[in-house]
Amino acid sequence: MNKLGIPNLDKQLELSLISDMEKVEKLLRTHIEGEYPLVVETSRHLINAGGKRLRPLLSILAGKFGIEETDEIIKAAVVCELTHLATLYHDDVMDDAVLRRGVTSANKKWSNAVAILTGDYLFSKASDLLADLKPEFVQEAVHLQAKTFERLVIGQINETQGASGGLKQIDHYLKVVSDKTGSLIGTSARLGAILARAKPEIVDILTKYGEKVGLLFQVSDDLIDIASSEMDSGKTPGTDLREGIPTLVTLYVIEANNPEDKELISKLNSKISDEELPAIIKQLRSHKVLQQVKNYLQQVADESIDLLADLPDCPAKEALKNLTYSLVSRSA
Ligand code: IPE
Ligand code: IPE
Ligand code: MG
Ligand code: MG
Repeated sequence: MNKLGIPNLDKQLELSLISDMEKVEKLLRTHIEGEYPLVVETSRHLINAGGKRLRPLLSILAGKFGIEETDEIIKAAVVCELTHLATLYHDDVMDDAVLRRGVTSANKKWSNAVAILTGDYLFSKASDLLADLKPEFVQEAVHLQAKTFERLVIGQINETQGASGGLKQIDHYLKVVSDKTGSLIGTSARLGAILARAKPEIVDILTKYGEKVGLLFQVSDDLIDIASSEMDSGKTPGTDLREGIPTLVTLYVIEANNPEDKELISKLNSKISDEELPAIIKQLRSHKVLQQVKNYLQQVADESIDLLADLPDCPAKEALKNLTYSLVSRSA
């Protein structure tokens, strides 16, 4: 596997992606510089800690379906990563998370206030960079980023509120996931394609693909919360369970309502204490529900790839397919 995390990558495309992603890294780091050392330090904290850079990678790959290779796409890619990064700072406050990208979360290293304000600082930097796009793109890009941010926030709020108005729990969950995660991943692909001046029908295909991959990505992240070690994910396992956040794993167990799960379901429906958590994680790790969620992931991956059918055949299309399948297996 190459360092981009995409299996069987065409050699020439790989070199071009590596060069583009190096530009992304450079701009990401220089763009957060400012005159206030504390906020630069707190912003650098998670940038330096790593992360998969999935969103910028999608912007760059989507840009390969256009007619123009331009540094505007690099800016768009950085806007998407900055927006994502900002949401991570805020999300860790909401989820009371201790670990992010394998390092102490900003809320624990400094404080909730510092983490919230660092997130805000990164949002402001993302907006600032959007304003630097060529004038012909600015209006559409600003609207798109604002709309995306709105959906992301709505998704995060709805997650804290739970299902209401007769909506089934699983449907509520899928809507939350599409808003909190699908929105930005879809936009990452969309912006890359727009700035490369791809045809409108191609822009729409890539947006829909990104949205669906966002669903795939979040459901696999939920699986990782249960099935993976701290070493592999860089996050504390069981955070969703501890915070009482429903995921496809827990919702499938609750919906099936099997008699042998009676005790487990009752625990999942109430506040889980730190003492109870390890035993519940252990039980879920050997539960047949994990295979059910993996089957769902495979189905979403197939649907994502079907959406690509009308794109021209090229190495970038193969790369998107292979990236999609690698997202299924990351939680295997
Ligand atoms: C974490 O996103 C938040 C989710 C939407 C699941 P990533 O898993 O892409 O986080 P990094 O960027 O690699 O740290
Ligand atoms: C994060 O969702 C989604 C956003 C940041 C908008 P989670 O809370 O499920 O993600 P992790 O597991 O903390 O990365
Ligand atoms: Mg979280
Ligand atoms: Mg969260």
